[in-house]
Amino acid sequence: MRNKISIIGAGFVGATAAHWCAVKELGDVVLVDIVDGMPQGKALDLLEAGPIEGYDLHIVGTNNYADTAGSDIIVITAGLPRQPGMTREDLVGVNAKIVRDVIESVMLHSPNAIMILVTNPLDTMLYLAKKVTGWPRERVIGQAGVLDSARMRAFMAMELDVSVENTHAFVMGGHGDEMVPLARYSTVAGIPITQLLPPDRVEAIIDRTRKGGGEIVSLLKKGSAFFAPSAATMQMVEAILKDRKMILPCSVYLEGEYGLNDICFGVPVKLGRSGVEQIIEVDLTDDERSAMERSAALVRSSMAALTI
Ligand code: APR
Repeated sequence: MRNKISIIGAGFVGATAAHWCAVKELGDVVLVDIVDGMPQGKALDLLEAGPIEGYDLHIVGTNNYADTAGSDIIVITAGLPRQPGMTREDLVGVNAKIVRDVIESVMLHSPNAIMILVTNPLDTMLYLAKKVTGWPRERVIGQAGVLDSARMRAFMAMELDVSVENTHAFVMGGHGDEMVPLARYSTVAGIPITQLLPPDRVEAIIDRTRKGGGEIVSLLKKGSAFFAPSAATMQMVEAILKDRKMILPCSVYLEGEYGLNDICFGVPVKLGRSGVEQIIEVDLTDDERSAMERSAALVRSSMAALTI
């Protein structure tokens, strides 16, 4: 039996996620969108690349949630991306309605799936998903920290002119401009960047990481990033389906960890076949703890706009 991965929203992030999924042969793909013909067209196009790339998967596009039945993983990317001048939080009203509709449909057909949210504002949409599904927090997970850490790693590698493979970055908190990149846990070949770079360069990397999504939005002028967000999502899918027990920063519903309750927030977790198998708590300095509190306050202000 092959794994079944349903991706809801066949726009830039969803279609690119399907592409990584096929190339990595993670499982059969169902691409769902509200627009008639578009997911069918993209799925067929991707299927037709199989003979060239050598993947041998079922890839279908549909407007019908019945086709997602029995999915192992549901990835939700449906919703509007931001435009220049917008924050992620500006999307809360419109995307909450879309995400709620999508969740109510998918949960009926795949009650045992692991759900990965990508739609922004991420932590708020994840909170909505957690409440609407009523599923255990281990199976309702948000993609943000893997992307933010990847961006930080790219900036560290550029700054130090080293391979990205030598880098490891540690970004916690909400997926907004108050996210919390932790320099002393971010390393190159195991050495913290605080020992390799002067404070102003470390600060510049942190600042660019925080604004990384906005930098792409400004360049594109229409829509937001999709290559790195979809790659980050598929790393999470792979960690789960291959039961890799990978420690990755993900948004998860907190019940007292890091002193936070009833909020979805980015923290390091262990991902395996059951979803979130452990939430890892690391020691924080007073400054880092304050940064976490500022980030949590921004998430809570966006959550306030939700009606659940
Ligand atoms: N059901 C299914 N699909 C929907 C629905 C719905 N109710 N409403 C919208 N969609 C689809 C749109 O038709 C579109 O194809 O969601 C897709 C979104 O794709 P894009 O507009 O290309 O946006 P994208 O760049 O993929 O971003 C999607 O991911 O990273 C986040 O901030 C980003 O919230 C945004 C989401």
